[in-house]
Amino acid sequence: MNLILVAEDDKKIVGLLIAEICDKKKYSFFVNFVVLPDYRSKGIGTKLYDLYEYDCKKNKLKTITALVQTSNKFMQQFCAKKGYNKGNELFFFEKDI
Ligand SMILES: CC(C)(COP(=O)(O)OP(=O)(O)OC[C@H]1O[C@@H](n2cnc3c(N)ncnc32)[C@H](O)[C@@H]1OP(=O)(O)O)[C@@H](O)C(=O)NCCC(=O)NCCS
Repeated sequence: MNLILVAEDDKKIVGLLIAEICDKKKYSFFVNFVVLPDYRSKGIGTKLYDLYEYDCKKNKLKTITALVQTSNKFMQQFCAKKGYNKGNELFFFEKDI
């Protein structure tokens, strides 16, 4: 199942969080989390994220996973603030095409 949360400003989508929810395995993986540049640093991302985590807890999930690029220091700080630890159970595969 997928969860899509949006933040709107006068019917314009300004923020988005998309997550995969696995009820059986009790985990969620958020794959897209973005706020339009002009709308950043106003608390919109935090609101979207907090709503998402609330929803995960309400559904009795046990783990949330995110993939963050090593260059994305801001998101790493955001995750640290939100209580995430760096995981070591996933490999990230990529190839140039
Ligand atoms: C990550 C993102 C969604 C956060 O959205 P946002 O609306 O700007 O977030 P908030 O305004 O709620 O700020 C979140 C926290 O980061 C801090 N912050 C906001 N902008 C910042 C900036 N430019 N530099 C450093 N810290 C910043 C805020 O102070 C806040 O922390 P605090 O309130 O605990 O002090 C947004 O920055 C974004 O779209 N980034 C590009 C896409 C991306 O990297 N997504 C994550 C992929 S894994």
